[in-house]
Amino acid sequence: MRFLHPRTTRSVNGRRTRYLGIASSLRESIRDGQLAAGEYLPSSRELSRQYQVHRHTVLVALDTLLSEGWVVAEPRRGYRVCPQVPEAQAKRDRGSAVFRGFRIVRAGSSLPASVDEVPYPLHAALADPALIPRRELRAAYAHVLERPRSRIFDQLDDRGLRELRNAVSVYLRRVRAVVPEDLLLTHGSQEAISLVAQALLAPGDGVAMEEPGYPPARDAFRAAGAEVLPIPVDAQGLSIEHLRAALDKQKSKVRLVYVTPTHQYPTTVSLSGTRRDELLGLTLERGIPILEDDYDHEYHYRGSPPAPLAASGAPHVLYVSTFSKLIGPTFRVGWIAARPELIDALVQLRRTSTRANDAVTAAALADWMQDGGFERHVRRARRCYAERCAAAVDSLELLRQDGLIEFQAPSGGMSIWARFPGIDSERLAARARERGVLVAPEYLLGVRGRGNGVRLAFARLAPARFREAVAILAEVARC
Ligand SMILES: Cc1ncc(COP(=O)(O)O)c(C=O)c1O
Repeated sequence: MRFLHPRTTRSVNGRRTRYLGIASSLRESIRDGQLAAGEYLPSSRELSRQYQVHRHTVLVALDTLLSEGWVVAEPRRGYRVCPQVPEAQAKRDRGSAVFRGFRIVRAGSSLPASVDEVPYPLHAALADPALIPRRELRAAYAHVLERPRSRIFDQLDDRGLRELRNAVSVYLRRVRAVVPEDLLLTHGSQEAISLVAQALLAPGDGVAMEEPGYPPARDAFRAAGAEVLPIPVDAQGLSIEHLRAALDKQKSKVRLVYVTPTHQYPTTVSLSGTRRDELLGLTLERGIPILEDDYDHEYHYRGSPPAPLAASGAPHVLYVSTFSKLIGPTFRVGWIAARPELIDALVQLRRTSTRANDAVTAAALADWMQDGGFERHVRRARRCYAERCAAAVDSLELLRQDGLIEFQAPSGGMSIWARFPGIDSERLAARARERGVLVAPEYLLGVRGRGNGVRLAFARLAPARFREAVAILAEVARC
């Protein structure tokens, strides 16, 4: 006796729905021709042996198929496959022959979100998970979960949990000199950037941003239908001269300026004091909001980090930041500080998608911040990355002496921007990848799609591993 479609007959609801699995298995056997039109099905006794169920269960399954028109009952002879496939199925089959796929009307990002498992991941400037104080975090989560009758389990606050909003506001005021008028907790910086893009940009509007710049932000602006205007970056950060020229040329079109002034992505250059003032003045005068992405503020290794643009109190600065670099990218908690009328609009927009943040994680982070554990962790991480930065600079120094690369030792950040004169970043990245070294090449980071720069992230790697990766890069660049 041949076996029909092998398919589990177990069901999540247990015995009472087991017949559904058998009916479905028989349907598939008819559909794929194991049981031909007009053919008799095995006897119910035989089927009950095959499926290892009671004969009654088989009879219920057969009854289902009978009512759907898959089989016909022949008195005293059993069940036979119906000569015609049931109409509903025929319709589905006809439909799948003409269905040409979905019409996708919104562009997303083509960049992969995950970190590839490679020996030398120098492409993503991620926080080192080994530094996360798991015991402290576990205690914070436990503390939250053990609270009797806590309102975090039933009250959704669409601005984000009040305790965390307060803790973040206090932290920003004290550590970054930013005094938020209003604050919305988001799923990382990315949700904040995306919400701003949706709220402020109409199709055809322009967004001025640094070139090379942060691809996920560019993707969010483009997804809102905006055109990205690349503004060059030099040793003092965004070129205000070029920005002014772009604004003059595209006068009515530019609706937003996106910048990473503390450590420019990907070069890590800090925007100079003079340019900060010029940028604030120019955009205010033209009525164009600034979206300031201050993603790794604390990791500044030469003196104090420069004050964020938002610390000026200028009304048109929207300040975005995140726990991604401070704890890890899987803690999807970030925030945007802005004027209340904009925050209201973002809250309403967010109701159409993610609605609110996870309150349990928010409560645990608030707990951890109030306890002082968070700042202890940040101080420790900063010390570690400062050491790794110095070691990374030493490793690259040898390549500079050989004339292979050009770079500036960064004042902060989690990566180093290096140029390989005469070598195309796409080719270099492809060859390095074959040797297990991933880098972020300039051709992926800019609108121009080329260049000889690569971003080498050091934060997540022990100095010895970074040195090994640099040695491989040097070999690749030489040949
Ligand atoms: C420029 C920039 N902004 C923001 C982030 C953090 O994004 P998120 O908070 O969505 O993880 C990163 C992380 O790579 C970044 O490089």
